Amino acid sequence: MFVSDSILLQRDKFLILMNFEHEIAWENDQVYEEVYRKSIEFPNEFWMQYAQDITWKRVPTLAYDKKKNEWLSDGISNVCYNCVDRHAIETPRKPAIIWHGDEYGERREISYAELQQMVLQIAAILKNRGIKKNDVIGIYMPMIPEALASMLACSRIGAIHLVVFAGFSQEALKYRLTTSNARALLTVTSFRRGGKEISLAKNIPSDLDVDIINLDNVSFPKNAKAEIEWQNSDDDLFILYTSGSSGKPKGVLHSALPYMLYVTATFKVIFGIKSDDVYFCTSDIGWITGHSYTTYAPLFHGLTTVIFSGSPTYPQADRYWEIIEKERVSIFYTAPTAIRSLQMFNKKFVKKYDLSSLRVLGSVGEPINKSAWKWYFENIGNKRCPIMDTWWQTETGGIILAPLRNLNQKPGIAGKPFFGVETDIINGELVIKNKFPGLYKAIIPEFKKADNVLYKTGDEAVYEDSDIKIKGRMDDVINISGHRLGTAEFECAINKVDEVKESAVVAIPDELKGQTAFAYVVLTRPLEKNDCADIVKKIVNSTRNNIGSIAKPDYIAFVPDLPKTRSGKIVRKLLRDIANGNENSADLNSVINSEIIEILKASVKSPIFCPDMCKLK
Ligand code: WT7
Repeated sequence: MFVSDSILLQRDKFLILMNFEHEIAWENDQVYEEVYRKSIEFPNEFWMQYAQDITWKRVPTLAYDKKKNEWLSDGISNVCYNCVDRHAIETPRKPAIIWHGDEYGERREISYAELQQMVLQIAAILKNRGIKKNDVIGIYMPMIPEALASMLACSRIGAIHLVVFAGFSQEALKYRLTTSNARALLTVTSFRRGGKEISLAKNIPSDLDVDIINLDNVSFPKNAKAEIEWQNSDDDLFILYTSGSSGKPKGVLHSALPYMLYVTATFKVIFGIKSDDVYFCTSDIGWITGHSYTTYAPLFHGLTTVIFSGSPTYPQADRYWEIIEKERVSIFYTAPTAIRSLQMFNKKFVKKYDLSSLRVLGSVGEPINKSAWKWYFENIGNKRCPIMDTWWQTETGGIILAPLRNLNQKPGIAGKPFFGVETDIINGELVIKNKFPGLYKAIIPEFKKADNVLYKTGDEAVYEDSDIKIKGRMDDVINISGHRLGTAEFECAINKVDEVKESAVVAIPDELKGQTAFAYVVLTRPLEKNDCADIVKKIVNSTRNNIGSIAKPDYIAFVPDLPKTRSGKIVRKLLRDIANGNENSADLNSVINSEIIEILKASVKSPIFCPDMCKLK
């Protein structure tokens, strides 16, 4: 019944180039240019080529249906079937997931057959609780195999998963569950990270109409059954919240089949995968990378995906390298902030290990600085492995830019658009000009449909020769250690403190985290010397309680007022310029209370460093 090879393609030259040589599609600029040109000229043939990697219940006849504005419009398939069941038939004993825990030697290996059982059991529990197609299911779990299996179980029965990063607070969890109308929440009691026991149970809201399913103490049905819910192109896979430039986090909704096509095609080509690759992506499933490239893409292609629930520096700063040696990892994908933090440790932590199994390296989440790139290239890749600096977003589902060549790479330059995607830089902003299957479907709770005529990324970019270099966000989104947070979210949390009248948060560069949050705070009363530490602690606690421990402002400047326009709007750009030491801000003229500017400038010269202040009694 599953006739993937019945898709016969017309343009055989194209087919040969793409299908045969995906492992070296990025070998040199010429190959890239040639394939790119064809992919734009013949989008249908291009995407149908990769649609062949999907096992279909009903094979689609067209990649993109212009009239319906739909991808894979008449295709029917299921994501879980493609990531689990078909491999459980073909390679049942092959490890699907290898998990490493917080302590050395803590290890589990889950074969494709075992993963299928795990998925079936979780799916059966959901079914028994009355979960149906299109119900939203929260997942609040650490990086354990059951977490990935929970995502797959949702997909199996057509439910929509909503993963909430285990580092988010009760308030953040509650907001996501309520605004997305979640029916159930899959969770576990606690986990260990960095030598500490972290409780998830304490963050579970008790006052919500959500069925709490704690996988620690649920009894798994024997001979679990859960039929596959076959899906068409309009069916959805997940919602993932991310920070926008204003107000509350937004829920990004991705549809099942087009997303699967985009993520698995980009993975195949950009990492040049081979069937025996052992792949290790360090991203948590709480972020989009953990969805697309820790879980879905590697399992879809039947590879072994290595996951790690510990801290890279506990008990020592060698955990990634230890795991790479032990599992003979061939593709390693991590974030610049992790590289920078590991780069600070003694080289002996790297040199101890045999990293010769590595073939390709990846970087994602923020621009990679030259020194981190060089360290990664020389010490981890041993000058042999290309570094795929991949630029993309929660909204794009999968990788958009990568240095699609393995020689003559330029540090810090993501490079070229993936095949089939037309990018441009308009007024300094990176935009996408055509339809591609990865783009999100809608933003919830409003169910605002993606306007995919011209997608504006919010990132500032420039051309360097024919390569695209990303400079950073143009809006009020801060990227702290690869965690995307909105300045507005910080401000909401800070303003909840009684003594705070108003606040404005801006990003400043940070050597380790990439960026960090700098808060200007106006109090309701003059600050007295001895209550400063107290207020700082209240502010830090409020961000921790409302967002999570990943979201603490590092610097606070208590100021008498904020710069405002005639209509009372805070002039954020000016605050950003002042905090970043940019004296000649273009926004000086719009400020009505300009007497404040010199005071602001003085205050940023000696702000309060919160980590120090919070240590004080
Ligand atoms: C923002 C998206 C993409 C998955 C992880 C983050 C920044 C991401 C890069 C890169 C420069 C990058 C952008 C983007 N970003 N990758 N290789 N070079 N900047 O996903 O949480 O949706 O954040 O991360 O600013 O807009 P996200």
